[in-house]
Amino acid sequence: MCGIVGFIGERKAAPILFEGLERLEYRGYDSAGIAVLNKDVITTRKTTERIKMLREITENGQGIPGSLGIGHTRWATHGAPSERNAHPHVSNDGKFAVVHNGIIENYITLKEELIQKGFIFESETDTEVVVHLLANYYKGNLIEAVVKAAKRLEGSYALGIICAHEPDVLVAVRRLSPLILGVGIGESFIASDVTALISHTKTVMYLEDGEIAEIKKSGIRVFDKAGSPVEKSTTEINWNIDAAEKSGYDHFMMKEIMEQPRAVRATLEPRIKNGKIKLDDISITAADLKNVNRIIITACGSASYAGQVGRYVLEELLRIPVEVDLASELRYRNPIINEHTLLIVISQSGETADTIAALKEAKGRGARVLSLVNVVGSTIAKMSDDVLYTWAGPEIAVATTKGYSTQLALLYLFGVYAAELLGNRTGEECAEMITELQNLPEQIEQALILNDNIITLAQKYHKNQSIFFIGRNIDYAVSMEGSLKLKEISYIHSEAYAAGELKHGTISLIDNDRLVIALACYERLFDKLMSNIKEVKARGAKVLATAIVGNTKILTEADDVMYIPRTNPLFLASVEVIPLQLLAYYVARDNGCDIDKPRNLAKSVTVE
Ligand code: F6R
Repeated sequence: MCGIVGFIGERKAAPILFEGLERLEYRGYDSAGIAVLNKDVITTRKTTERIKMLREITENGQGIPGSLGIGHTRWATHGAPSERNAHPHVSNDGKFAVVHNGIIENYITLKEELIQKGFIFESETDTEVVVHLLANYYKGNLIEAVVKAAKRLEGSYALGIICAHEPDVLVAVRRLSPLILGVGIGESFIASDVTALISHTKTVMYLEDGEIAEIKKSGIRVFDKAGSPVEKSTTEINWNIDAAEKSGYDHFMMKEIMEQPRAVRATLEPRIKNGKIKLDDISITAADLKNVNRIIITACGSASYAGQVGRYVLEELLRIPVEVDLASELRYRNPIINEHTLLIVISQSGETADTIAALKEAKGRGARVLSLVNVVGSTIAKMSDDVLYTWAGPEIAVATTKGYSTQLALLYLFGVYAAELLGNRTGEECAEMITELQNLPEQIEQALILNDNIITLAQKYHKNQSIFFIGRNIDYAVSMEGSLKLKEISYIHSEAYAAGELKHGTISLIDNDRLVIALACYERLFDKLMSNIKEVKARGAKVLATAIVGNTKILTEADDVMYIPRTNPLFLASVEVIPLQLLAYYVARDNGCDIDKPRNLAKSVTVE
């Protein structure tokens, strides 16, 4: 949801900004721009195309002198994608430039006030009020102007600011939108996430909500929202630049699909010691769990579908009622949540606006909050009582794969851990499940190998315009993720249906050659699912099924089958999702879609 970068140092800023923006392009890519200060002149360049175009029109940045600059890659919220609306926005006197990620909710009121004062607006964006506010408040000290302007802003923002009156300073400020400072030698950076900094420095500083950073070549000073200095420490990033590169794959999505055995291992292994689960990162005790009479899992999109799997698994293991509540709905309901509720928040980015709002709502009503998050130091991680990190490494493709898989792994870990704490499962039963969990990375690997026929299946089915996924129990939960993966990257309409529900209306859409993807790995309900397959076959549908390796009965009805290795049925989703991810990928590829950056989407949805 927009990416921002900034640089101050001795080197030329523009090429560094381009490199950072290219790494952040997954966050939004409908327009882009940079502003660079040289002596006392701010030069901007913008495009409604990709960063590649900015490189072309500036001789790779060599045509723009200056060692202080900011850049932006946009996912439009206020105002269509156009050069006028692209960031950076510049003040009427050309002295201030601003890049912004987030939404200024009170921009209409501020805009009216600033127009009254004579400021002229060039764009339809909410961001432009910020740059005029700064010009309005500036009386010779940029930090003071930022403190005053920030007090007037409602909503969410991460801002990068430069000012021609102060050519040796880059200012950053954030509230409810991500922003990281990179500390180099004689140079500093700002960026929406670590991937944009990691090729220059591994030393970073996280800004808290409301904090303002004054960034100079000689160092960084941080102030609170009142302008008083704050002591900050730095953190070292423990992964390398290769994690943010394609490493020979055509797309990040395929690289990340292939990384799943490693990512799931990285989630599980450090938390299993001598055959026991050790969740040292959280403080939930048996007494805390006994106090819980309801678990609510809240999240958006794929993270909520991981939650759907979690619901089956946790109810089975803990015998506590579990609901999955979409964050965008929970935040505006009057939910029944109290101090006996455990809220499990799932988010890869840790910055999803609806999820943050749902967390706040539930916390305000007394819930204890456990979050499962990938991005260290993210807003959701900071707001939670307990955090379990997924340790998936950076996920760049817009469509999540390893993010989802590592979320599942944490749900299983927590489920088995809590089952033992509650005494719902014996030590022996838990030990058996832990061994099965330890086998998961290998089973995921086998699922990747078993499914090299999916390229052919994609060629056969990629022209379908509407596809149904059906399943029961965990197969149904996985079908939701399979359907989302397919539609978001291939633009083929698709729906996930509880197999038993189809005949209550939707079956009227099944006709000759309609493709139904039937998930048939949950063996306890296999025969029931077979009946549902027969129902759609009888109406002319083609059926592509998933099944556990060795299942030949499925061949009596299905036209094609994607096999997966046998697992504990509770952990089935981790293996079954693999062929569905591969199918979505190859179908999108055969349809010529932009796999890593599907239209209209952005990776981290930091607006409502
Ligand atoms: C789909 C996808 C999205 C995210 C959703 C939540 O492939 O990635 O549906 O799962 O936007 O994002 P996070 O997990 O960052 O909160």
